[in-house]
Amino acid sequence: MSSIAVLVSGRGSNLQAIIDSIENGYLKAEISAVISDVEKAYALERARKHGIKAFFIDPRKFPSRELYEQEVLKVLIDNDVELVLLAGYMRILGKTLLEAYRNRILNIHPALLPAFPGLHAQKQAFGHGVKVAGCTVHFVDESLDGGPIILQRCVEVKEDDTAETLADRILEQEHKIYPEAVKLFVENRLCIEGRKVRIIS
Ligand code: GRF
Repeated sequence: MSSIAVLVSGRGSNLQAIIDSIENGYLKAEISAVISDVEKAYALERARKHGIKAFFIDPRKFPSRELYEQEVLKVLIDNDVELVLLAGYMRILGKTLLEAYRNRILNIHPALLPAFPGLHAQKQAFGHGVKVAGCTVHFVDESLDGGPIILQRCVEVKEDDTAETLADRILEQEHKIYPEAVKLFVENRLCIEGRKVRIIS
């Protein structure tokens, strides 16, 4: 069974979607560690409620990103982690983690990449006046939200939407496609070919 770690910084609703997918048998995997860079992140609470090991690693205790990531890496290795999921993790990864887990780190982004990378993507999309918004699961590489795309889902923008109502509907879709993408990964059905990810049926 695949051993997964989830890196978080906040409320952890995507973490919850992965936990639920494992508990209801959709995903044949195990979450070996949840790691947060924020002590009060509700995601840590969610992990503990499900008997999952929850780690707070304080970045302020490390003089550099490299040393901080070495500490994160130690937890990953100690727990035999094979796949790392970023789920609302608010830090850009450096080479320590990227090189150790090349093509084994996924992220969920609340926009149809390559449009609207970076922070507050739903607000950026809404403010731009898009008619179709959505979310993306992608591999993580050195670029900002620019790694090969695994799955995307569209959400129509309604006339009476606000940035918040739109973000809520995008989030519902995030909770569906993240477990779907993880399932494809753990079943070895993702093949990276340059920028493209081929899904093996
Ligand atoms: C989600 O919108 C995700 O797409 C983005 O950060 C948010 C995290 O939400 N990367 P949650 O902590 O999973 O509830």
